[in-house]
Amino acid sequence: MLDQACDGKSYYAGSKAPPTASRSPLPVNGAGEERLNPPESDFDALRAAEFGRLDEQGVAYLDFAGAALYGASQVANYARRLERGLYGNPHSEHAPSRASMAEIDATREKALAFFDADPEVYEVVLTANTSAAIKLVAESYPFGPGKGLVLSADNHNSVNGMREYARAVGAAVHVLPLTAELRLDCPADRLVLSARRLGGGLLAFPAQSNFSGVQHDLGLVEAAQDLGFDVLLDAAGCGVSGGVSLREHPAEFLAFSFYKLFGLPTGLGALIVRKAALARLRRPWFAGGTVDFVSVAHDRHQLSAGHHGFEDGTPDFLNAGAVVDGFAFLERVDRRALTARLKALTGYFLDRVVGLKHGNGAPLVRVYGPQGVTERGGTVAFNLLDAEGFPVPYALVEQRAYAQRVAIRGGCFCNPGAAEAAFGFADIGALRCIDRLRGRFTVAEFQACLGADKAVGAVRLSVGLPTTMEDLDRALELVVGFAL
Ligand SMILES: Cc1ncc(COP(=O)(O)O)c(C=O)c1O
Repeated sequence: MLDQACDGKSYYAGSKAPPTASRSPLPVNGAGEERLNPPESDFDALRAAEFGRLDEQGVAYLDFAGAALYGASQVANYARRLERGLYGNPHSEHAPSRASMAEIDATREKALAFFDADPEVYEVVLTANTSAAIKLVAESYPFGPGKGLVLSADNHNSVNGMREYARAVGAAVHVLPLTAELRLDCPADRLVLSARRLGGGLLAFPAQSNFSGVQHDLGLVEAAQDLGFDVLLDAAGCGVSGGVSLREHPAEFLAFSFYKLFGLPTGLGALIVRKAALARLRRPWFAGGTVDFVSVAHDRHQLSAGHHGFEDGTPDFLNAGAVVDGFAFLERVDRRALTARLKALTGYFLDRVVGLKHGNGAPLVRVYGPQGVTERGGTVAFNLLDAEGFPVPYALVEQRAYAQRVAIRGGCFCNPGAAEAAFGFADIGALRCIDRLRGRFTVAEFQACLGADKAVGAVRLSVGLPTTMEDLDRALELVVGFAL
């Protein structure tokens, strides 16, 4: 178990179902007829019907941590809605306005259901994306000397940026470090120390790392709450399988973007928030749509209750319908079967890539994070190594990938903390280089300062609903092409 090396606290034991490490054949289940279940041929049928453009264009799309792809039927449904519907600004009261409001309400309901959140306890604030959802909390949370911020080192920059709000009002910021496998290192023990020093505050961590695919133990939510912390879960890296139940792990805040689940629409995300926690936030401003009244003559305003007070201006009412279509699309696929399939695909890639060697016996690949499928999702970060053991510049790998129509991503994926842990930046004088280079510098200048034996970025592959083993074979071919 994750924390046995620390003090074996029981809140970790059994906080997740045991991993289903089966790779293939894919599991079969007995869900309803209209569902698309394994065996694999059903996923093949889904790919052919909904994602035929991948094969038409010969693209192996392996960047689902960047964005999911939408199915063709989502586009058709969305177009039909717009053609037939009459949608007005939801802040009016007429029928077209009510049509928009109905889709916005449906969006909220579906979002709550997807993350297994009790509508009596939680509500949904619609935002532009995950970053905007996190910023709402950052700018409104009552940070101060007695309420600090604890961040996992593994966090997207949209979470790391919260520290600027905390520090601006004199709140302390603590960081939970990572193990060599990029899991949180004894987080419960460290939180106890943070609670003593900070007196409580907010803990923010990702349910699944967008760098390493690590699924952090969600038992940490309750452990932090027991110590007096509120918890913000960043669920943007979980992808289509979701994997967070707010009934089981009742975080105060959960942020995500809809395009990470089903590709369409972009420009919409949400903050799912406990009603009681929302009431404790203090908005630093007001805008159209967020107030019951404003007096200019007397300099007074009253913020609207609940999510209304946090949704600035006109919501993206035309795209709300696309969210409803997106969830309807996902409902055609059995979620457990999909989760098992993504795990099997991830295992397929890891099994083949870990241990690849050059002709001289030197390793060809360095995978960051877990090398197996336990407690991890379908995101894999790695570097290719040359025959001397030096990392091949990630930009070179990207270049070849694009030439071979393999869509993967290079860099640190806006997750500098996980990257620093992966590349060993704490030990190798990265700070010396940052200070020496001062101001703006390029990746090439940073690499030159650190030395060619250090990685400054990795390559990330991530699987999703339409991914096939053939896509992964294309990525493996790319990797093997670097062997000498
Ligand atoms: C884990 C994680 N958090 C936050 C974000 C930010 O999401 P968005 O760009 O949709 O605001 C991302 C985006 O990739 C992410 O992967």
